[in-house]
Amino acid sequence: MADKKYDVVVVGLQCIDIVCTPVAHNVMDGETTVVDSARLMLGGDAQNQAITLASLGARVALMGVAGNDRLGDVLLNQLSAFPIDILTRREDVNTSISLVLVEDKGDRHFVYQPQSNQALSYRHIDEDAVRNAAFLSVGGCLTLPGLDGEGMLRLLDLARKAGTRTALDFNVTDYMLDRATLKALLSRTDYALPSEVEARALTGEGKDPAEMVRRLRALGATNCIIKLGGKGCYVAADGYEGIVPPCPCRCLDTTGAGDTFVAAFLYARTRGWDILRCARFANAAGSIAVEHAGANGGIRSAAQVEARMA
Ligand SMILES: Nc1ncnc2c1ncn2[C@@H]1O[C@H](COP(=O)(O)OP(=O)(O)OP(=O)(O)O)[C@@H](O)[C@H]1O
Ligand SMILES: [Mg+2]
Repeated sequence: MADKKYDVVVVGLQCIDIVCTPVAHNVMDGETTVVDSARLMLGGDAQNQAITLASLGARVALMGVAGNDRLGDVLLNQLSAFPIDILTRREDVNTSISLVLVEDKGDRHFVYQPQSNQALSYRHIDEDAVRNAAFLSVGGCLTLPGLDGEGMLRLLDLARKAGTRTALDFNVTDYMLDRATLKALLSRTDYALPSEVEARALTGEGKDPAEMVRRLRALGATNCIIKLGGKGCYVAADGYEGIVPPCPCRCLDTTGAGDTFVAAFLYARTRGWDILRCARFANAAGSIAVEHAGANGGIRSAAQVEARMA
């Protein structure tokens, strides 16, 4: 939609990651664990998406909350290096921080302090920016207690009324919305993009992606794309249904692969490509992300991702 100011407005989790590589599974057994690398990076689902979208060349704005503390200064300072309209607001809370412990096969574990992300609510939403975007993408649905529920429904309604298409990615903890709210949420979502684990938590289905989709649709979802890690993705969208196989790669760190996938998928959608090409582009971007340490930064351009597809 060339008449809109933004391709994608991203809302949700922003934090500082301290990425430690490699960390053995039994880290708690000893007193000190020495790692090869411990780096301060930007993280959080929405922030990761925004950075990838900007690197792909999309026009992007980001909304979230950072604290009025030194970590918040660091976050905004690092973020300003990217061509992103930063609509992030600050509150008197501690900026969220995540200790990312990456195992040598690439699996990761988080130690997460969520305060600034928990502060995000509808009053932080720049309504004009949402109206002026081809897509609204929420990163971290179900781990945004100030927005999940009523605020999220209002946000999705705002978008849809303005002709802004909506995309939801999730994060699961022990918390789950009640079925009625989940239904209200998914029925306002143009593209639901859960990971396999999240789809399982949302639907109760153990492993069959087709059955997960059937249940997501019973909950009101229309287009569903389930991220399947090293198995690629399952697409049930725009008239197509089936597995789209992954791009072969050497997996180093899976952190942020899902966010990279979502960003690439939305970028592809805004180009008007058919659904299979969008899914293949997103798989290619995800495969580049897992070869790169940290939650974002692996993607440098759309041409790089297209080269991986070939
Ligand atoms: N080992 C792998 N080989 C090839 N592609 C991969 C691999 N792991 C991930 N991908 C790509 O990245 C996408 C997203 O990965 P995954 O399913 O792990 O997302 P996620 O669980 O949401 O991750 P996160 O929330 O940590 O960002 C996959 O759908 C796939 O396209
Ligand atoms: Mg994810």
